[in-house]
Amino acid sequence: MTPLLEVSDLNISFPRDGAPLVPVDDVSFMVSPGELVALVGESGCGKTLTGLALPRLLPRGAVLGPRSAVRFDGTDLTRLSERELRSYRGRRIAMVFQDPMTSLNPVMRIGTQIAEAIHAHRKVSSRDARERVLALLAEVGIADPPARINAYPHQLSGGMRQRVLIAMALAGQPDLLIADEPTTALDVTVQAQILELLDRLRAARGMAVLLISHDLGIVAGRADRVLVMYAGRIVESAATAQLFAHPAHPYTRGLFASIPRLDATTTRLTPIRGTVPRPDQWPDGCRFHPRCPVAVSRCLTQRPPLELVAPDQRAACWVAQGAAT
Ligand SMILES: Nc1ncnc2c1ncn2[C@@H]1O[C@H](COP(=O)(O)OP(=O)(O)OP(=O)(O)O)[C@@H](O)[C@H]1O
Ligand SMILES: [Mg+2]
Repeated sequence: MTPLLEVSDLNISFPRDGAPLVPVDDVSFMVSPGELVALVGESGCGKTLTGLALPRLLPRGAVLGPRSAVRFDGTDLTRLSERELRSYRGRRIAMVFQDPMTSLNPVMRIGTQIAEAIHAHRKVSSRDARERVLALLAEVGIADPPARINAYPHQLSGGMRQRVLIAMALAGQPDLLIADEPTTALDVTVQAQILELLDRLRAARGMAVLLISHDLGIVAGRADRVLVMYAGRIVESAATAQLFAHPAHPYTRGLFASIPRLDATTTRLTPIRGTVPRPDQWPDGCRFHPRCPVAVSRCLTQRPPLELVAPDQRAACWVAQGAAT
C-alpha cells in the first residue's frame, strides 16, 4: 500500500552555544492509510517533537535538518510555504494533545468551539455547522448532544473534555490524527474508553492514527504497529503481535518489563535501570548502551542502524542483529 505518511531522516535541532541540541535524530517511519501506529518511549525521548514536526508546528528555535522529509500523500510538507501548509493542518493532519483543559477555551461553550473548528475548514451556514457539531458529539460518544452542546468545559469530566477535543480534531475530516498522550491525565478505565474511541474512529473513517504515549502497555493492544523511540531515535519498529511475542531491542524488553502484568512472563524480564539522559548527554554508539543489560564493546562506539531482524520487525541493536562483537 502507498504510505499516507513517509517520514525520512527527520532531524530536529536547537542551536545554542557550542554543539546544537539534537533531540530528534534521523527518525524514519511510515504510516499507511487507516493504520494505527503507536510511538512509544520514556519521557524526553523526542516523541512530542516528532509529532509536532509532521504538520510543522515545532516550537520556536527548532531547526529541521536539510535531509529531513515529511511526505504526506506524496507532498513533502517541509518544502511548503506557511500558506500552502494551511490546507494540510487541521484538514488533512489534525492533532490532539494531552491536556484538554489547556486546549479548550474555558469561557466558551463547547458547541461554539467545535463550530469554530468547522468554520475554520469549510464554508458552512450556522445551521449546518450546528448539525455537524451535534453529529460530531454523537460520533465521539457524548450522550445527549443537544443538551451538552451548550456546556462549558468545566462542566464536563476529563474524559468528556478529551472527547470534545477529538470532535474538534475531526471537524476538518483529517486523514491522519496525531494523538499525543491523549489519555495520560485520565484514569485507567477512561483511558481505555478513549483508545477504544480512537480505534473505532479510524475504522469508521479510514483515518490513520499516530498514537504517542510513554506507556507501551496502554497503546500497544490497539496498534497495528509500534515504533519504539529512545533518546531521539527509533530503536525498534514492528507489527504489534510480533513485538509482543518477541521484542527484539533490549529497550523494548525493558519497557515490557515495566508494564504491570499478572502472567509469569514478567519474571524473565528486568525493568530498565536509570533514566533517559538529557539530549546534551547522549552517549556515542548505541545511546541505550549505558542502561543495556546485554551491551558488548561494539555498542559503545558504533551506532546500530535500524535493520530487519525478523519479518515485520526492525531493530537498531547489534545484539539483535547477530552482529555483536
Ligand atoms: N523548545 C525546546 N528547546 C530545547 N529543548 C527542547 C525543546 N522542546 C523539547 N526539548 C527537548 O527535547 C527532548 C525531547 O522532548 P519531547 O517533548 O519531544 O519528549 P517526549 O518524548 O515527548 O517526552 P514526554 O514523554 O515527557 O512528553 C527533551 O529532552 C526536551 O527537553
Ligand atoms: Mg511528549
